[in-house]
Amino acid sequence: MRIDVLTLFPDMFTGVISNSIIKRAIDQNLVTINLIDFREFSADKHHKVDDTPYGGGAGMVLQVEPVHAALQSIEGYEHALKIIMTPQGVPYTQKQAYTLKEEDHLIILCGHYEGFDERIRHFFDLEISIGDYVLTGGEIAAMTVMDSVIRLLDGAIGQKASHEEDSFSQTLLEYPQYTRPRDYLGMTVPDVLLSGHHERIDTWRKEQSIKRTKERRPDLYQAYMKKTDE
Ligand code: ADE
Repeated sequence: MRIDVLTLFPDMFTGVISNSIIKRAIDQNLVTINLIDFREFSADKHHKVDDTPYGGGAGMVLQVEPVHAALQSIEGYEHALKIIMTPQGVPYTQKQAYTLKEEDHLIILCGHYEGFDERIRHFFDLEISIGDYVLTGGEIAAMTVMDSVIRLLDGAIGQKASHEEDSFSQTLLEYPQYTRPRDYLGMTVPDVLLSGHHERIDTWRKEQSIKRTKERRPDLYQAYMKKTDE
């Protein structure tokens, strides 16, 4: 997979791409990440990429020209899935992460300022929001999407089973996990997990997943019950 990111703050990505699973995925050539500072595509002598809104109002608006020029500089951009990060986008979910994982080439635009010139939308396929809150820019949102997609690429993390058990993959939250020690300050590991009885362990985990989902995410619990009724 190749991911091109259009951003005014490429340095924000340094920590994410040079650590842990993302770094390993890059080192293994599972993904190539290309950070493009679209300020470099501004025709303005001061490299301006924003301007005041027509019709007046507060704040600045991202201009269409530098974004479009940067987009056109990307080899094969016509065939890539082009995404804008914005709180106005479709709410991001694990299901969408699985869809994006199948793409060969993603281009992600990180917005800044009060908004985009509406004509920018003409050049993109999809708008994604990572939640109903407003960030200072699309970078952290883009990193969220990238992280969630890259970890799904074949070979990025150890066991494939760990995807299958991910919270949300099956609309239930994950069951409680324990590791050594068996007793910590009187808090003990449930006996069933020490029993070596795989069937009983599986049943316990499923029950715990259902219980936890019901308590914490009634919306997901309802969806799960509906699915199991079908
Ligand atoms: N940019 C600013 N806020 C955002 C959000 N919630 N999701 C995606 N992009 C954003």
